[in-house]
This record gives sequence, structure tokens and C-alpha cells, in this order.
Amino acid sequence: MANRTTLLLFLFVLCHGVALTMALLEDEESSNNLFMMHNSKIVVETEFGEMRVLKSHRDVILDRRMHIGFITMEPKTLFVPQYLDSNLIIFIRRGEAKLGFIYDDELAEKKLKTGDVYVIPAGSAFYLVNIGEGQRLNIICSIDPSTHLGLDTFQSFYIGGGAKSHSVLSGFESVILETAFNESRTEIEQIFSAKLDGPFVYVGDSHAPSLWTKFLQLKNEDKVQHMKKMVQDQEEEEDDVDGGDEEKKTTKLWRKLLETVFGKVNEKARNKDTNGPPDSHNLYDKKPDFSNAYGWSKTLHGDDYHQLRKPDVGIFHVNLTAGSMLSPHVNPRAAEYCIVLRGYGKFQLVFPNGSNAMNIQIKAGDVFVVPRYFPFCQIASRDGPLEFFGFSTSSRKNNPQFLAGSMSLLRTLMGPELAAAFGVSEGTLRRALDAQHEAVILPSTWAAPPENAGKMKKVHMSPKGIRT
Ligand SMILES: *[C@@H]1O[C@H](CO)[C@@H](O)[C@H](O)[C@H]1NC(C)=O
Ligand SMILES: *[C@@H]1O[C@H](CO)[C@@H](O)[C@H](O)[C@H]1NC(C)=O
Ligand SMILES: *[C@@H]1O[C@H](CO)[C@@H](O)[C@H](O)[C@H]1NC(C)=O
Repeated sequence: MANRTTLLLFLFVLCHGVALTMALLEDEESSNNLFMMHNSKIVVETEFGEMRVLKSHRDVILDRRMHIGFITMEPKTLFVPQYLDSNLIIFIRRGEAKLGFIYDDELAEKKLKTGDVYVIPAGSAFYLVNIGEGQRLNIICSIDPSTHLGLDTFQSFYIGGGAKSHSVLSGFESVILETAFNESRTEIEQIFSAKLDGPFVYVGDSHAPSLWTKFLQLKNEDKVQHMKKMVQDQEEEEDDVDGGDEEKKTTKLWRKLLETVFGKVNEKARNKDTNGPPDSHNLYDKKPDFSNAYGWSKTLHGDDYHQLRKPDVGIFHVNLTAGSMLSPHVNPRAAEYCIVLRGYGKFQLVFPNGSNAMNIQIKAGDVFVVPRYFPFCQIASRDGPLEFFGFSTSSRKNNPQFLAGSMSLLRTLMGPELAAAFGVSEGTLRRALDAQHEAVILPSTWAAPPENAGKMKKVHMSPKGIRT
């Protein structure tokens, strides 16, 4: 009984907060933007691509902090081999990519298309190539720093030369590398001290193949043993003709890198009956968990896609039709990092004590964070649909608790106790709660009035959103 009373009180506070928020709808935007992630930092950039990372505000209480990254790559560009000190969950927002990574000590490659989700565990070496014909590649990723080293945001270790134009291996003393690679000092210094083009490099020019073009050519065959054989054959050929010094060095370099950093090809691995690397999971192909005339919502969690379990991250995707609202709700299990993909609208967040935490207009490219237990809702502008996507800090099914609508927590708890908590008669409360016939996604003509839509349009016209 005591528990029930506590819950009712908690609910009362929540509802009071929601009611207050609704009343504040017409007010000026709250200046409290703690929950917006606009501390954007370009971590790497070349003329062929960039990676931008957003961090959450230090003052926001979160069960787990994540960074949100945006990677943009021009056609025929390679994001050079590297490993991170953080789990990386990538979502292909637009375009086609080839992801190369180490799985079970072997090099595996996966083609990814728009809507695909893939998990790259911390410490796993990987590279990315934009293979979309004349198409820019846009990737949104969550960077989970729970394994990180406590350096700034996260740390990339470039295997073959990166942001500071040096390979991570170049930090070793020459004598170490001489031993590790069984190569002469001259050769080692030439390879590992070479200034490279940075982490995003163009690999399309087949007439003047760069180190990286060469690398990708080596890997046109899927299996490592093919590749290795190819490398060896090529080496023999080159020995025969006794020319192309650069080329020979490149080939040798890659063979050694593949063996030392990327793992050795061995008979055991080759004959092992593995199922291969995990498949990607396409978010766009997934059926909505909920849908009605006003929109749909999807979630992807550990039961749907096992790869999400280890990093313990869930994914959601919501599309609201023009003027619709995702009913005020609470996530009892996880914080949410939300990225607006398309359209514009409103976002309201309430502190557990019932005061308004944020009331802002949102547009494509905006990123905000919703702490666990905080009630919130999103409303699409009347001019078009609002699509958003995001990561939650748990791979378990989220079970959001809706505070309004025909499937709400309040309806479930309807009774004399709840009426008493609100200080009204049971009949009054029942009438108030029964008025809304829709659930989860609601029509909301009143919440997005036309005069507001005009104001939002202005915001829309100067988007600093996702680059397309
Ligand atoms: C190092 O290379 C030489 C030939 O270049 C070879 O004879 C020797 O066995 C190699 N050592 C190791 C440990 O691979
Ligand atoms: C979202 O819904 C709108 C209609 O309201 C539709 O045109 C659009 O294609 C949908 N977006 C996605 C990603 O399905
Ligand atoms: C509610 O809590 C927030 C965050 O702790 C605080 O900033 C705000 O002043 C509180 N509001 C009231 C009315 O107590």
C-alpha cells in the first residue's frame, strides 16, 4: 500500500509537471539548453571527409554518457584503418559503405547500405570505404566511452597514418619495429615515419595508385588467404621484374600489417566452422512496433540484434506525420540520445520535480539528450513529418510509460486513489482521462498552432543540420 501511495505521488508530480509544460507551450523558448548537444567538435577533417562529434553537457545527470558522431565521406574515399578505445555503433544514414574489420582474427568485409546498423567493438581494427557511385556517405554513430582511456573524447589509433599523419606504430622505437617486422631500419623509417594524407583519403585514381588504393586492391578478394596469396604472387612477380620499389614496399607493408596488427592467417582459422562475422541489421526494413494514422515508432534492442547486447545500447526510430505528437512519456530504463533526421517540430522535457527543463523548436541535425525518468514529448510541425532516430543506454526492451492517451499509465491506475491524488472526483478524472481515444502517437492540432508553424519555418530555412 505504501508503495502504491509513493507511486501515486510520483505520478502526481509527473502529471503536474506535464500539465505545467502544456501550459508553458506558448511561452518563449526556455533558455535552459543543457539537454541540447551543440558542443560540436570536428575531430578529423580532410578535403574528402570529416568526422564531427557532439558531447553531452557535463551538468546533465546521465546514467551513461555517450558521444554522437557524424561522419561524412566523399565518393571513393577511405577512412583509414584504425581502432578506437570506445565501442562504436554505426548507422548508415545515407549511402553505401564497405566496412573492413577484424573478426575472429580474420579480416572480414561487409557491404552496408542506407538504414544498416553495425557494432564495432572497442579495440577492433576497422576501415570504411564509400562505395556509393557518385554519392556522399553519411554515417551517424554513437561512441560509447565506457571503455575509454580517459583522454579527451575518444582516441583513434591509426594503423597506417592518421590525423597527426603518423601511424600509431611510429611511436615505437625503431629497434622495436625492426624486430617486430624483421625489417631494416631504413625500410622501417621510410614506412612508419612517412607523412600520410590524413584519415580520409581519396582512393579512386587507378592511374596513380596511392598506398591506400593499393591496400584496397589487395583486398578485393574476400578471404584473407586469397589476399595473402595475391600479395605473395605479386611479390614474386615484382622480384622477377626487379622494379617498382614503391610498390614493393607498399605490398610488403600491407602484408606485414595484416599479419601483425590485423591477425595472422592460420590453418586453424581457415578450416574452422565459423558462422562468419555478424550480419548488419537494417532499421528501415524493420516493421514498426507501433503505428497508427499519426505515425510509427520502431526500436531495435538486444533481442532483435544480439550485437547490441555487449555495448548495451538500444536504437529507436520514430516518424510523426505533420502535426502529430508522441504522447508525453517516461523511459524508466535508459537515457536517450535523440537525433532529428527530417522535418521540424517541438521538444518538451520536464524535470521530475515538475518544472520545465526544456521547451525548444527542433530541426534536422539537432541532437538532444533525455535523462532516464524525465517525462518528455515531441511534436511535429503542421507543415510536414518529423523523423528522428537515436541511441538509448540500454539494450533491453525499453517499455516507455505513457502518461496520456488510451494506453497510458494513468488509465491503468485509474481509481479512487488516483482521483484523490489529483484532488478531484473519480468521475471527473475518468472523464478527463477517457477523452483521448488514441494511444502513443496523438493528433495535436492544438499543440502546433499555425502561427507557431510560421515561426518554425524560419528556423527551418537556416538549417545547420546534417550535410547531405
Ligand atoms: C627475418 O628475415 C630473414 C630474411 O630476410 C629470415 O631469414 C629470417 O628467418 C626472418 N626472421 C624471422 C623471425 O622471421
Ligand atoms: C515518414 O512519414 C512520411 C509521411 O508522414 C513519409 O512521407 C516518409 O516517407 C516517412 N519516412 C520514413 C523514413 O519512412
Ligand atoms: C526542479 O529541479 C531542477 C533540477 O534539479 C531545478 O533546476 C529547478 O529549480 C527545480 N524546480 C523547482 C520548482 O523546484
